[in-house]
Amino acid sequence: MPYGEGWHRSQRRVPPDGPPFAFTPANVARLEEICRHYPPEQRKSAVIAALYLVQEQQGHITGNAMKHVADVIGCPPAQVEDVVSYYVMFFTRPVGRYVLQVCRTLSCALRGAERVTEALCQHLQVRPGETTADGMFTVTEFECLGACDRAPVIMVNNDHWHECQAPERVTELIELLRTEGVEALSGCHLVREKHEE
Ligand code: FES
Repeated sequence: MPYGEGWHRSQRRVPPDGPPFAFTPANVARLEEICRHYPPEQRKSAVIAALYLVQEQQGHITGNAMKHVADVIGCPPAQVEDVVSYYVMFFTRPVGRYVLQVCRTLSCALRGAERVTEALCQHLQVRPGETTADGMFTVTEFECLGACDRAPVIMVNNDHWHECQAPERVTELIELLRTEGVEALSGCHLVREKHEE
């Protein structure tokens, strides 16, 4: 499905409950530390941080995970579902270890985003929205990532913007992730590469 998990509410599916979910002891500690930054009666303000922890722990957000988050931060499950359904960075179905989201809005479209998506999909043998058989990569399309002057842009795992991308260069990004992992990107939040016409 284009644009994350479906940018319009009508496109969204209620995620299945999935297997039982509980935060690991390490993530309980991390969430409690985050909650200490809020007044005790406002623990629910940590909902986005809690959902990021869910995603880090099991890759995507399930119905049981949303219920667990609601229990832990003290709010109705419907409020957690509202957050999950509003923000496109939360995945409600299994995705690859690396989610490659190609901006398809005007500036990126004019600068060849469609060819970038095609190159990614061709190299990985998937269609937009699909995940590779080895579970490593998911390719999706996204709306404006706010770096329009450096189009086209690929975002990796909601965290790393790769700007001025060209179809001929996408294999480098994939192989970097495959061999060195996302840590290899952590020092270059914005990667400025000369666009090759
Ligand atoms: S149009 Fe692609 S980043 Fe804005």
